[in-house]
Amino acid sequence: MQQIVHIAPLRQAIATHKRAGHRIVFVPTMGNLHAGHVRLVEEARLHGNIVVCSIFVNPLQFGPTEDLDAYPRTPEADLAVCEREGVDVLFAPDVEEMYPGGLVDAVMVDPGPLGTVLEGAARPTHFRGVLTIVAKLFAIVRPDLAVFGEKDFQQLALIRRMVRDLALDVRVEGHPIVRETDGLAMSSRNTYLSVEQHEQALALSQALAAAVEQGPVGRDAALKAAHEVLDTAPGVELDYLVVTDPLLGEVDDDFHGQARALVAARVGTTRLLDNTAVLLREGR
Ligand code: PAJ
Repeated sequence: MQQIVHIAPLRQAIATHKRAGHRIVFVPTMGNLHAGHVRLVEEARLHGNIVVCSIFVNPLQFGPTEDLDAYPRTPEADLAVCEREGVDVLFAPDVEEMYPGGLVDAVMVDPGPLGTVLEGAARPTHFRGVLTIVAKLFAIVRPDLAVFGEKDFQQLALIRRMVRDLALDVRVEGHPIVRETDGLAMSSRNTYLSVEQHEQALALSQALAAAVEQGPVGRDAALKAAHEVLDTAPGVELDYLVVTDPLLGEVDDDFHGQARALVAARVGTTRLLDNTAVLLREGR
């Protein structure tokens, strides 16, 4: 595995692979790699012969009161995971390399209206930070294809939109959410949870399962079923629960077909996300 921390040698390595006719597949991460990340790497392997993984805790996507300093950083364990999973190139730059002019003066990608709802309402500068770093990583790695998890469903939707609207020459592949055996969506932030909080956090996936069950009755029934789980769950402070179309557009109770249920909630001080496909008014 090639380990690279600077942009110039990374560009050289990529150019060499491109000249050799290799197909480059990219998995961007913020490290603290778990089984969800590993599955993205496995998926990447299916789509090309050179797998590039990046690890960079991007300060631009954290708000001033968020967990940038506390965010789990486990470089040695991450390195071992990448080696074991057969990653070909690991790009792990530092902040100075990615933001040489500092954060305040940086040119940024504006996510547009989709960046202001749901996660964007709770974290107003978050998606600007995500899209800016992903665009920059795309410009450096020049992948044929990049793999992102549906765990961050709005992030995936916005990256697809950025690729379309800015005519970026990369294919984006989404990967289903990887869960613990008890149903909790895997996340680096799960390490903040105590054993009791982990138990409480199961209400998110359970609420979504209840929504899926009631989906054939319609959107309102799906929301009601999910609320019944969340509103009585100890330790869970709901931020939002919505059912949307697959592009995150609003749907009414008459809507039928494939939809998405998304939830965000706080357990203690940890903000957790989950989502699932829901079939509305069909399948009965
Ligand atoms: P991070 O949270 O490290 O996630 C990296 C990738 O792994 C993202 O595409 C995310 O959706 C995916 N992922 C995380 N948990 C998952 C799970 N349980 N199942 C499936 N996929 C999962 O997302 C980011 O980093 C950053 O915003 C980034 C895109 C790297 C930009 O900084």
